[in-house]
Amino acid sequence: MPWTLEQILSATGGKLMRRGTRSAFGEVVTDSKKVGTNSVFVALKGQKFDGHRFAKDAARRGAGCLIVHEKIPLAPLKAAAVVRVKDTLAALGDLARCRRLAVAPKVLAITGSNGKTTTKEMVAAILARASLGGRPLKGRVLKTEGNFNNLVGLPLTLLRLTGREKVAVVELGTSNPGEIARLTAIARPDIAIVTSVGPAHLSGLKSVAGVAREKGEIFRGLGPRGIAVVNGDDPWTRRLGAKFRGKKIVYGKKGRVRGAGEKALGAGGTEFVLKAGGKAARVRLRLSGAHNLANALGAAAMARGLGVDLRAIRAGLEAVRPFSMRMGIERWNGAGVINDAYNANPASMEAALRTLGGIRARGEKIAVLGDMLELGGEARARHLALGRQAARYGVDRLYLLGKQARLVARGALAAGMERDRVVIGRSHAHVAALVRGRARRGGWILLKGSRGMKMEKVLQALRDGGA
Ligand SMILES: Nc1ncnc2c1ncn2[C@@H]1O[C@H](COP(=O)(O)OP(=O)(O)OP(=O)(O)O)[C@@H](O)[C@H]1O
Ligand SMILES: [Mg+2]
Repeated sequence: MPWTLEQILSATGGKLMRRGTRSAFGEVVTDSKKVGTNSVFVALKGQKFDGHRFAKDAARRGAGCLIVHEKIPLAPLKAAAVVRVKDTLAALGDLARCRRLAVAPKVLAITGSNGKTTTKEMVAAILARASLGGRPLKGRVLKTEGNFNNLVGLPLTLLRLTGREKVAVVELGTSNPGEIARLTAIARPDIAIVTSVGPAHLSGLKSVAGVAREKGEIFRGLGPRGIAVVNGDDPWTRRLGAKFRGKKIVYGKKGRVRGAGEKALGAGGTEFVLKAGGKAARVRLRLSGAHNLANALGAAAMARGLGVDLRAIRAGLEAVRPFSMRMGIERWNGAGVINDAYNANPASMEAALRTLGGIRARGEKIAVLGDMLELGGEARARHLALGRQAARYGVDRLYLLGKQARLVARGALAAGMERDRVVIGRSHAHVAALVRGRARRGGWILLKGSRGMKMEKVLQALRDGGA
């Protein structure tokens, strides 16, 4: 779908600084290296890079239109049109919103402290097997790739809409107040979910109440016919749902969409009976942990909101496999490895430890944990609590890395773990060497920490070092 200069000006409220040689343009990009003939290049200013410095490069690569918020020399920009806006990041969102309204798919938006990407992948897997109005949706669903959930990633996702899509499933993330409101205004969801509310990104959002307020903006941004999908098992999301006046679908123990007869299969996932709309279907979910069962119910509730039948929901949920570094089950030297190194916050740490605790293992359970970052003033208490949880969920050995490791160790010792079973490592390689000496066939190793801790390097070092 081409962009006209008029559309760009009216969507962004920008001022035409120079009319180029063309009046219709191709895709919108923010990376000058991705500029192709006739692209629209939006010069974003980030912490490390300033897109304005790449304007000339974009023009050289054939950009048809440049969107900027600073004065730049026009002479070297060849044939490109130049539009000046107040803020290029806002302009990027405005363009995405314009495209979303023009293409008008059903938009399903997902936020929450944990489980966004997992839920998004589950919803997408369901939709790929579903039909709406008698027509299969396969090939007509747009979804957020990876974790493109912020003020840059969400617009770039929606800008990929071509006009063929019937549904868009998008992830909205936040680290500062106001971001969800803005992302919701851009995405204009028809159906929205808050998967969970917990202590994450507290440096920006301050408290769990602050997190709830921020996430709740997604429901406020629903139109009059919008549907709020409410996690009835989370007290914070329940409260957000209670405030919402429009149509709701509650999922969880007492919800309209619920699970029954759960059978945890350890690392193999969970089997349960999915109940919705007076019907029931037995589902074998390959993702383990009670948190993933909750994500599956949330995804099912979103699909129900669209009118998808239970058969497609079941087929979609059964097709989902663990994603890279998110509760992925791997093996090393005969031991099972739960690779959850992608990220961590208190709720997801507890979910992972609970899963490790629930596995029936023939050998020791080892937790290799790195710091949980971005917890602001709560960091101390939360790391002490993490250590206590490790002990409570029956971890046999604890290997720790990071600035908070001492606190985690103190929590674990206070909760009864023996001193020689709690070790603070100096580096990933050091921890790997310690684990190598302990891990045995039949045992289990959990790897987890915030993204910045790169805990996957421990597994890499184990593999590099051989058995
Ligand atoms: N509902 C949940 N409750 C608690 N922890 C969860 C839940 N769902 C997933 N997790 C944990 O959080 C980790 C990240 O999951 P996922 O990537 O789906 O979350 P996300 O919300 O997209 O995270 P991010 O904020 O990094 O985008 C998982 O590996 C798992 O350990
Ligand atoms: Mg995510």
